[in-house]
Amino acid sequence: AGHGAKAAPATAHTTAQPVSLAASTRMPAGATLRELPRLHNHATRAGLFQGELVAAPVRMSLIDGESTEVWAFNGSLPGPVIDVHEGDTVEIRFVNRLSQPSTLHWHGLPVPPDQDGNPHEVVAPGESRLYRFTLPVGSAGTYWYHPHPHGHTAEQAFRGLAGAFIVRAAKDPLHALPERHLFISDLRLMSDGTIPPNTADDVMDGREGQFVLVNGQREPSIVVTRTERWRIWNACNARYLDLMLEGTTLTQVGTDGGLFETPQAGLNSLLLAPAERVEIVVSPSTTATNTKLVARPYSRGKMAADAEDVRITLAGVKLAAGTAVALPTALREVPALGMAERVRTVVLSEDMGHGTGNMRFMIDGKTFDMARVDIDTTVGLVEHWDIRNDADMDHPFHLHGVQFQLVSRRQDGVTEHAPFVAWKDTVNVEPGETVRIKVAQHHVGLRMYHCHILEHEEAGMMGQLRVNPRV
Ligand code: C2O
Ligand code: CU
Ligand code: CU
Repeated sequence: AGHGAKAAPATAHTTAQPVSLAASTRMPAGATLRELPRLHNHATRAGLFQGELVAAPVRMSLIDGESTEVWAFNGSLPGPVIDVHEGDTVEIRFVNRLSQPSTLHWHGLPVPPDQDGNPHEVVAPGESRLYRFTLPVGSAGTYWYHPHPHGHTAEQAFRGLAGAFIVRAAKDPLHALPERHLFISDLRLMSDGTIPPNTADDVMDGREGQFVLVNGQREPSIVVTRTERWRIWNACNARYLDLMLEGTTLTQVGTDGGLFETPQAGLNSLLLAPAERVEIVVSPSTTATNTKLVARPYSRGKMAADAEDVRITLAGVKLAAGTAVALPTALREVPALGMAERVRTVVLSEDMGHGTGNMRFMIDGKTFDMARVDIDTTVGLVEHWDIRNDADMDHPFHLHGVQFQLVSRRQDGVTEHAPFVAWKDTVNVEPGETVRIKVAQHHVGLRMYHCHILEHEEAGMMGQLRVNPRV
């Protein structure tokens, strides 16, 4: 009777829809972590970086026996890393070979609004444009770039368009440490190798792909023989990464906008909401150890009860036997922003549509309108923003064009002050929580602020800030 299974080839004649693959199948894993390709600098003088980013569909072999069309920068998943110094002028020619309008947004960087890839200034299919900006002293940090055209941001990102951007300081207290870059994204693949469009559930919950990739690889392996500096990006559309290096603790030295004032050692885990970045230091061990970099599941502000069972392995990590390099106790000074001159409140909310299928994600009760200015401010004005989450799920809040400082978190009437100053451009806000940030804008023009679950941003959770000149 068991021979009946041999008849299986008959199914090849059916036209069944491809199904979503199990994450464990068919994508090779375990290869050595590759370095991100670097964007080539064509400039012939110091202080200038000139490069080209071409967004185009490209076919790749990601799962056995199928080819996948991804949308990539310069044919690479993720895009090439742009690696520059404070004070550099950066000129990037962007060529759009997609069938949709696109832009390049420089996530976290203090670039002028007309160079920041706002949805108002799209590059049409087949067209190109030059982005040009100079990186001020003090901007050293771990940034990234991705498209930002209205209505297409989420799709262009989940099809592969994102890349890392590193700004280095002239004097870097950790410059002697070798660096490793872990650019984490997720990808949903069907059994025929295609990347499916978003479903209604994706719009509500944010899209997660079943394959979580580091530098485009599934569960790559890393060998640590010396103390290393790792920069880690959460470039997923919606996935939270609660990072752990199993059996050991983490030492964090920086976040979105660069180094902390002092290293923070002994952390059991580090939560990266979508779009957040961290810098950590990883050292060899007294005795050689095989461990794993994993992400514990995270949802709606609470760890899942079965967290132990559903960890996602991001990378295999071998800590060789060796000695850790002692870190300097002072990394740099993070300047305080001065007294806040005004307080404003920004409210995040959801309307699930009561069965009509019309889910809306809102800021201050409104969905995004490109023709509407939501907030006016003045260049240089120091403000407190109280970001209140009235919704039922977490929303990672992001503001363009600046780094801000977390001041406090308030939940159930209890206020927790930030223990130290650090630069951030994205901060998670839990349901019922009010997060206070301190911020000042440096350029006149329009800035966006939004939830960085890109599906929510596209479903309306975005607003516009107009920065006016000082009179
Ligand atoms: Cu990554 Cu509007 O941002
Ligand atoms: Cu941004
Ligand atoms: Cu959201």
